[in-house]
Amino acid sequence: MVGLQWGDEGKGRVVDLMAPGFDAVVRFQGGSNAGHTVVVGGQKRVFHLVPSGVLQGRLGIIGNGVVVDPEVLLEELRSLESAGIEPKVLLSDKAHVTTELHRLQDEAEEMRRGNRALGTTRRGIGPTYADKAARVGIRVGDLLRGEVLRGKLRDLYSSKEWIGHIIGRLPPFESLYSDLLRYGEELRRYVGRTEYVLNRMLSSGSRVLFEGAQGSLLDVDHGTYPYTTSSNTVAAAAAIGSGVPPTAITEVVGVAKAYTTRVGGGPFPTEDRGEAGEALRSLGNEYGATTGRPRRCGWFDAVAARYSAMVNGASSLVITKLDVLGQLNRVKLGVAYRIDGSTTDEFPSTVEELEEAEPVYEEFDGWRDAGAEVWRRARVEGESALPRSLRDYLRRIEEVVGASVRGLSYGPSREEYLEVGRRAGAPVAAGRQVSRPGGGLSERLLRGQAARAARQGRGEVPGGARGEARRGGARGPADRG
Ligand code: GDP
Ligand code: IMO
Ligand code: MG
Repeated sequence: MVGLQWGDEGKGRVVDLMAPGFDAVVRFQGGSNAGHTVVVGGQKRVFHLVPSGVLQGRLGIIGNGVVVDPEVLLEELRSLESAGIEPKVLLSDKAHVTTELHRLQDEAEEMRRGNRALGTTRRGIGPTYADKAARVGIRVGDLLRGEVLRGKLRDLYSSKEWIGHIIGRLPPFESLYSDLLRYGEELRRYVGRTEYVLNRMLSSGSRVLFEGAQGSLLDVDHGTYPYTTSSNTVAAAAAIGSGVPPTAITEVVGVAKAYTTRVGGGPFPTEDRGEAGEALRSLGNEYGATTGRPRRCGWFDAVAARYSAMVNGASSLVITKLDVLGQLNRVKLGVAYRIDGSTTDEFPSTVEELEEAEPVYEEFDGWRDAGAEVWRRARVEGESALPRSLRDYLRRIEEVVGASVRGLSYGPSREEYLEVGRRAGAPVAAGRQVSRPGGGLSERLLRGQAARAARQGRGEVPGGARGEARRGGARGPADRG
């Protein structure tokens, strides 16, 4: 499940709805720049690193492709526990660690960019991925081995002293080191070989949901570079960021807001800087779940969504916030761009072209008459109970984007969701049964290797982190098979 726009499409909310049909929910990229909101019983919870599916009691796996700020993760786990939720979480020992140095570097780099700042979340995401690619990063497994950590942190620290000159402060080495060591101790019980756990689950027929973070247009390759995040956010990244083969992915669901928002800098062809944009921001409460920044608002961009659906292979769509958009009297839908005198339905690859792009709009009436009662009726009688203008709008989106709508969200809470074309009462998001394709490692071999990982954790094999088999928290689906 991936976002098709610039993030904040309502992924957390959709994962929460779909999670009951799965055994585990996996984050595979991004870090604490994500803010995924789930509203249950009027209570709002924002997830940054823990997969949103833990609220439904699913095993939450944080894969190797995620960059983990241990301070944020521990705080999130504490906050869940203090609310009486015992999250079942498993954290990859190969995930890279975001430290205070990375957060400060993010800030320093933004300062250096001046009026060309990217508008990052300043959570240290870019610097952590940069260090990973430069092969100088610190991984979760390193936090569990004091001497290894000291050596790696020493090298990292010496390469970052310039930050102090820009920011005017840098934490002393020893305090950084002891903090990281302490975080490692606190996280130890969650750390394991997530790729083995996941592959074992898949071979025993368990169902796994991958929770994308950010949005496809923020993908470092496919997004509006350089106004992107630093990870690959598209569906293909689920394989790399978790260690399952790409052939194990059987379905890709794209989530999009009924309009478009963007936080931070960068081109946004359908942005509305006038009354409509203002109205969407206030009606939709469009303020960042991570930074609180006001989100830029505009119309649904079907050119961008079509491109995103293509690079993701999204075969179905969930459209959120239809309640918000429908409150406007007139609604616009961008179906093509005019660039330099010609019309195109392709999403340009440069920000220069995108900045020039003039959207070609089609207009629709709003659906202010679609109140709670109408949606309730639609849940019983089907889509035909919805206002004509809304149905026309959705059909046009399907046509231009080239994927069919499977779900409509008309409010933040669990009930405010209409599944399109499915029997009432059937589980949300029933996908195909996932089975491991032939040619993979046999289940026995996987079990043997997982047992070895566990022995490493007990110190029976040198150099290992504690294996997932000892983790009480991950029992349940992960232990099946
Ligand atoms: P994510 O990052 O994709 O998980 O999305 P965010 O949580 O950052 O932002 C989505 C916001 O919209 C959250 O505050 C949700 O509670 C809210 N939301 C999600 N779906 C709907 C919907 O259909 N209608 C309304 N009014 N709010 C929604
Ligand atoms: P979720 O998962 C919206 C944006 C930032 C900035 C750019 C780079 O909640 O949808 P970064 O800190 O990643 O280096 O910032 O990416 N950004 C997001 N925008 N939702 C997010 O996550 C985002 N994560 C990063 O605003 O423009
Ligand atoms: Mg968000």
